Amino acid sequence: MKEKILIIGSLNMDIVVSLKNMPGLGETVSGYSLTYIPGGKGANQAYAAGKLSGDVSMLGCVGNDEFGRIQLANLKKAGVNITKLKVSDKNPTGTAIIYVNEMGDNSIVIISGANGECDVEYLKENDDLFRWCDYVILQMEIPYESVLYSIKRANRLEKKIILNPAPAPEELPDDILKMLEYITPNETELMKLTDCECKNLEDYIKASRKLLKRGAKNVLVTLGEQGALLVNEKTEKVYPARKVESVDTTAAGDCFNAALTVGLADNMDEEEAIFFANISSSVAVTRKGAQSSLPDRTEIDRVIRNL
Ligand code: RIB
Ligand code: NA
Repeated sequence: MKEKILIIGSLNMDIVVSLKNMPGLGETVSGYSLTYIPGGKGANQAYAAGKLSGDVSMLGCVGNDEFGRIQLANLKKAGVNITKLKVSDKNPTGTAIIYVNEMGDNSIVIISGANGECDVEYLKENDDLFRWCDYVILQMEIPYESVLYSIKRANRLEKKIILNPAPAPEELPDDILKMLEYITPNETELMKLTDCECKNLEDYIKASRKLLKRGAKNVLVTLGEQGALLVNEKTEKVYPARKVESVDTTAAGDCFNAALTVGLADNMDEEEAIFFANISSSVAVTRKGAQSSLPDRTEIDRVIRNL
């Protein structure tokens, strides 16, 4: 049987500027194009999980504006239950200004807007979804207290919790780490969380072990084109990525987290779920934008068949 997934997080309109090279401080450059694409780590993960045929509900907040309406329509199309999403009259939908250079690398500035209203009070009002689900996935673009509250609440209800610590917080208490099934930082987030300067795989393993010592059960580090590194009591193993021509890595991490959870919720074993997540995110990097780049289940099944 398919297990149910609750995604709690941000929704942003991504305002994407594509250009040759990032401008330096005080520098003016010309860009190629400007596009508006639904994004936000929470919404991207919900959208991807829905398209990958997960049973998904989302909690989060948009503004009562055009950007918010576009988000809601997009999530609905992906089959995500959005009936409990909050629409605020006080704050505009969050926005992310994203620069993408010719190499496909990005830098992002976020104005969180209505995401700030995904607060503890709102989460308490929607406790039925906490009770409904089997998995809770979180990232860190909503208030910090909301993330902590959600993890404690989900743990109390004995739900499986996956935390994508993006962007990495200043600190993450040990008792919170202990409540997670998986923590899924990328390289930069792992370094920030552990205060380690990592240069190679060995360093990433060492840093991951630091999180294990503090109580984490499974540290799953996304390493971009290198794949994913799983470190726990029993193993340290790299699951290599599928080689592709990367165009835009925006939302690749979101896709990975969504696919991992959908895989586990579909009763894949851990190895299979990580493989499924690697394949899914390898497809996302071949297309531009956040939600516009996220694959559906039919496409991933086909890619896997053709390997
Ligand atoms: O992970 C990618 C997302 O980060 C973008 O969609 C942007 O909105 C930022 O939140
Ligand atoms: Na992408």
